Amino acid sequence: MNALLEKLRHEHQIILRMFEEQVSILEIIHFVEKVHHPLEEQDLFPAVAGHALLREGGPLCTFFRGMELDLNPQEGPRQHLQKLYEKGFPKASAYPRFDWLNSQNPLSLPMEEHELGHEIAEALKILVNPDMQKIYPGDFEVLKTDYENLLRRHIAKEDGCLFVLCEKLLS
Ligand SMILES: [Fe+2]
Ligand SMILES: [Fe+2]
Repeated sequence: MNALLEKLRHEHQIILRMFEEQVSILEIIHFVEKVHHPLEEQDLFPAVAGHALLREGGPLCTFFRGMELDLNPQEGPRQHLQKLYEKGFPKASAYPRFDWLNSQNPLSLPMEEHELGHEIAEALKILVNPDMQKIYPGDFEVLKTDYENLLRRHIAKEDGCLFVLCEKLLS
């Protein structure tokens, strides 16, 4: 198996274990936002972004796509963030742009999730402060759950769909 994909799959297991072991959310955010997603964005996604077969999808891609069209899982977290912003909560800094990415590229789907994850993570980094939790009661718990659910879905989709395809494209 491709060494990079093997490393990224291993990192997925590390992230899932951190959720199981309930390590601090800041530790999880650090690993995801500073280690794992940058590795995907700098080493994996540019290597496959221009590949003609990227649209083919892996065996579980149709399943995930159908589930998302039915359940629209991003809607809840986006509404939670929107409600916070309406209360004056500071918005996250803009997500980096990449020259290999455009809205027609299939990678815009996982990248949309990286971007939403970043937005939730930035809010959590502020809300982890107990003083902020007094000003915005309940939001820390809600967004913490949103972040975990988003990452679990994202990891399942990468392991079962995108990475399977990348393994074929890079072999
Ligand atoms: Fe990812
Ligand atoms: Fe990943």
